[in-house]
Amino acid sequence: MRLDVVTIFPEYLEPLNVSLVGKARARGQLGVHVHDLREWTYDRHNTVDDTPYGGGPGMVMKTGPWGDALDTVLADGYESGAHAPTLVVPTPSGRPFTQELAVELSERPWLIFTPARYEGIDRRVMDEYATRVDVLEVSIGDYVLAGGEAAVLVITEAVARLLPGVLGNAESHRDDSFAPGAMAGLLEGPVYTKPPEWRGRDIPDVLLSGHHGRIARWRRDEALKRTAAHRPDLIERCDPRAFDKKDRETLFILGWAPDPAGEPYGRFWRRPDAVEQ
Ligand code: ADE
Repeated sequence: MRLDVVTIFPEYLEPLNVSLVGKARARGQLGVHVHDLREWTYDRHNTVDDTPYGGGPGMVMKTGPWGDALDTVLADGYESGAHAPTLVVPTPSGRPFTQELAVELSERPWLIFTPARYEGIDRRVMDEYATRVDVLEVSIGDYVLAGGEAAVLVITEAVARLLPGVLGNAESHRDDSFAPGAMAGLLEGPVYTKPPEWRGRDIPDVLLSGHHGRIARWRRDEALKRTAAHRPDLIERCDPRAFDKKDRETLFILGWAPDPAGEPYGRFWRRPDAVEQ
């Protein structure tokens, strides 16, 4: 996979040299190219922004530098054999970044990130490139960052670990929170490693039992508990057919019940009579 990032703070992307992404780069699984947007400014002050039409606070990033930068990055990439670019535009008004979107992006051959500062990029830039390449506006959460660079790091890390051969153990994705499969839609529960006792704290006996069925059951119960506590919206969204008898018992104890109006496929809701956990 090829990644290009165009930014006014190339040094902000230094973390792409370390850890998992850095290693994937070193191994040639990922080609990363960081570009300084100011290379495509031609005035004394290397201006990349201007006041917004219609008034209002803040500044807007200008069309000129972005257009010239993206033309160059696209031409260079195509010349070196890359194809089917996707422009990924981090913005709080984008589509929410999820594990599903990370999987989708990990299957694309070439991502070009355009992290913005200030109030964002003049709309015409994305309208223009949308006529030529896929443009995806993506938000990493319901909060406003000072710029999109941190979002690029987040998206890149989530995508890179999904590339074939990047994580040592291919099984490591299997139980990820949000991964499809047996635990679909549930958060991962707690994990433990050696020593078996630390500051008087033991690890749950079941994990030492060697009984795979019981361990899987325990992990699922813990996942249900954690999801119910931290992300009740995910329990509500789960297809209730995915819950077995024991799941239903656990959920009931946690204060959940199928919506009586929706039986037999009623989604689970917090029982109105349930005490706060
Ligand atoms: N830029 C500023 N805030 C952002 C957010 N929440 N997600 C993506 N890009 C951003």
